[in-house]
Amino acid sequence: MAEITSDVSKAVNHLRNGDLIGFPTETVYGLAANGLNPDAVVKIFQVKNRPAFDPLIIHTYSLTEVEKYAKKIPKKALQLAEVFWPGPLTLVLDKNQLIPDLVTSGLDTVAMRIPIHSMALKLLQQLDFPLAAPSANSFGYVSPTTADHVNANLGDRISLILDGGSCDIGLESTIVRVDGDDVVIFRLGGKTVEEIEGVVGKVMVRLNGGSNPKAPGMLDKHYAPETPLFLGNLDQLVENHQGKEIGILSLRKSFQSINEQNQIQLSSKGDLTQAAKVLFKALRSLDAMSVDVILTEKMPDHGLGRAINDRLRRASS
Ligand code: TXA
Ligand code: MG
Repeated sequence: MAEITSDVSKAVNHLRNGDLIGFPTETVYGLAANGLNPDAVVKIFQVKNRPAFDPLIIHTYSLTEVEKYAKKIPKKALQLAEVFWPGPLTLVLDKNQLIPDLVTSGLDTVAMRIPIHSMALKLLQQLDFPLAAPSANSFGYVSPTTADHVNANLGDRISLILDGGSCDIGLESTIVRVDGDDVVIFRLGGKTVEEIEGVVGKVMVRLNGGSNPKAPGMLDKHYAPETPLFLGNLDQLVENHQGKEIGILSLRKSFQSINEQNQIQLSSKGDLTQAAKVLFKALRSLDAMSVDVILTEKMPDHGLGRAINDRLRRASS
């Protein structure tokens, strides 16, 4: 298993040596390497078992740093950066030659983000290179929101995990591309469509399956527990799965007929921010129980509910 520590200087040493570490961000935990060193970045793909066609996000600590790696930052992208960075927003920008092709899977764009988690910023500020970092889970599995999640999933393959507590947001960053006047959301995440439209006006949401080369990582099957998960009307699903050991993941509903321990309510108040924060932890808990199926329902389709629904849809069988 990996060493779990809050000693940032240890992480700095590992990264300078070309090794990988797990580290906290406000969205999910990342699996980081020196983003300018292809020999270090290749280990990310190996450790995660991630296909080489799925590009990585580059993390840094300031707009000035971002400008070192992007050819230009379009006006609306700059507006978004000024309002939402540091924070759970990723901007897809035209890249220059400093970013290795391995990071971007050969694309001529690079996805960039400035996280707001204090430990992540402290780490990034101590490095003279940015960090390439996907979520710290094996490819296709549920993203980690605690150091223990990272350890459970990848602890036998990495030696150090920085512990910064539970992630505040609990869902990955929102990925945005600005193309002239058009603003396109490739992945729903921690910044809501409403918040982004509040800054740049109407956006397009273009979530993609594996076929869209602009965001090849948004594969349809993703974030999936090993236990089969069904998304739909909970009453009906419970009816359909009678005779099986059922796990329930709901916003606030519970069932008398089902073992209380096998039921997780994401937010008793129906608060979507709270629900997002505990979603991945709940999926992992249910996956660790001896249930035959996980039954879940759609959240209200606004705010963070849209991103939660996206993750549940991709997790479902
Ligand atoms: O919140 C997050 O974004 C977390 C934390 C660690 O920062 N990271 C994360 O990384 O979720 P990952 O690798 O699990 O997801 C990155 C997504 C993939 O869907 C990938 O296809 C997309 O970003 N992506 C990366 N580079 C891209 C590019 N140049 N154009 C379009 N999509 C890109
Ligand atoms: Mg991921």
